[in-house]
Amino acid sequence: MISTLPGRSYTDPEVFAEEQAKIFETLWFCAVRAEDLPKPGAFKTVQAGRESVLVVRGRDDRLRAFLNVCRHRGAQLCVEAQGEVKRTIRCAYHAWSYDLDGRLAAAPNLAKMPDIDRVEYGLVPVHLREWLGYAWVCLAAEPPSFEETVTSAATERLGDPAAIERYHVDKLALGRRIVYDVRANWKLIVENFMECYHCATIHPELTAVLPEFAGGYAAQYYVGHGAEFADRAEGFTVDGSRGFGKLPDVSQDQDRRYYAITVKPQVFVNLVPDHVIMHRMYPMAADRTVVECDWLYHPDVIASGADLSLSVELFHRVNEQDFDACERTQPGMSSRAYRDGGVLVPSEHHISLFHQWVNQRLRG
Ligand code: FES
Repeated sequence: MISTLPGRSYTDPEVFAEEQAKIFETLWFCAVRAEDLPKPGAFKTVQAGRESVLVVRGRDDRLRAFLNVCRHRGAQLCVEAQGEVKRTIRCAYHAWSYDLDGRLAAAPNLAKMPDIDRVEYGLVPVHLREWLGYAWVCLAAEPPSFEETVTSAATERLGDPAAIERYHVDKLALGRRIVYDVRANWKLIVENFMECYHCATIHPELTAVLPEFAGGYAAQYYVGHGAEFADRAEGFTVDGSRGFGKLPDVSQDQDRRYYAITVKPQVFVNLVPDHVIMHRMYPMAADRTVVECDWLYHPDVIASGADLSLSVELFHRVNEQDFDACERTQPGMSSRAYRDGGVLVPSEHHISLFHQWVNQRLRG
C-alpha cells in the first residue's frame, strides 16, 4: 500500500515556509500573461514565494521583473495588482523614481548624494523567460535550466516536443479569466489535478465529454495519451455542443482529444482542439491558494465576439467541483485520523512521484 504525505505537510506553516523557500523561490514560476501588459509602462505584481514581484513592460517592449521593493527604505513600490506608469516607477514614500529597466532615475536631492549609484541602487532584478505567452520568473540567483525544469514537462507528458507547439499558445487570445480563492493547500490541488479517481464521483459534465475518465485513470497516467471525446460530443463544451473548430495546426491525431500537463510546481495546462486552459497557482498560506485560470482561443474567435459561455462553463464547473473537494479535504489534514497520511490506490500511484519530488526539494 502506498501512503500519501502526512497531514502536517498540508497544514504546518513551517513546512509551507520551507516550500516557499525551496520550491517557489527556487524554481521557475509562471507569473503573468504577456498580453496583460500590452504597452510600455504596463505592470502587474504577483506573489512568488514570499516575495512580491513586479513585472513591467519596458520602453524597448521587453518584459522585465524586479522585486517590488524600493531600495531607499523598503516601501512597496506598486501596491495595485495591475496598472500603468507613464515614464518611471515612483515610490510613494520619498519619491525615488526608477526607469522601466530598473535604474534609479531620480530622487529628491540626488545631486547632493554622490555615493548613490543609479545602477547599484536600482531595482533588484528577477530572472524572466517567456513561454506559451506567459512571463515566468525565477527568484534564484542562478535559475535552473528552463528547458529541463519547465518545457520538458510538455515533452515528457505528450511524448513529442512538437505537440504543444501546434497549439501556438503564445499567439492565442484571452477569452475569459476566473480567479478562485481556494481554502486548501497547494499540494492538494496538484494531487487532485493529477488523478481522475474522483472524476466519476464529482465531474458529471467532464465524464460525459471524456467517458474514459469515469474509469478513474487520468490522461496524465499515460505518456502521450490524450483522452478521446465521446462519440456524441461535438466539442469540449458543457453540453457537448460544437465549439469553435480545431486550431489550425493541431494535428489530426490531436483532434477530439484532451491533454493535460502539470508543470511543477504551479501550472496546469489543458489542451483541447479549439482552446487552451492555463491554471496558475499562487500559494498564499499553508491552507490558502489563489488559482488564476485563463481560457485562451484563436484571436479570430475573440475578434468575432463569439459566445464563449458553453465552452468556458465546462472547465469552470470542473474547477469549482475540484476546489470544493480540496476545501472539503483541507480540515481533515489537521485531524488525528490523517496524522500518518492516507492511501494511494493504483490509479493514483503516480501521485507518489510528486510526493517524492516535494520531499527531494525540501531535503535539498
Ligand atoms: Fe521609497 Fe523612500 S522608501 S523613496
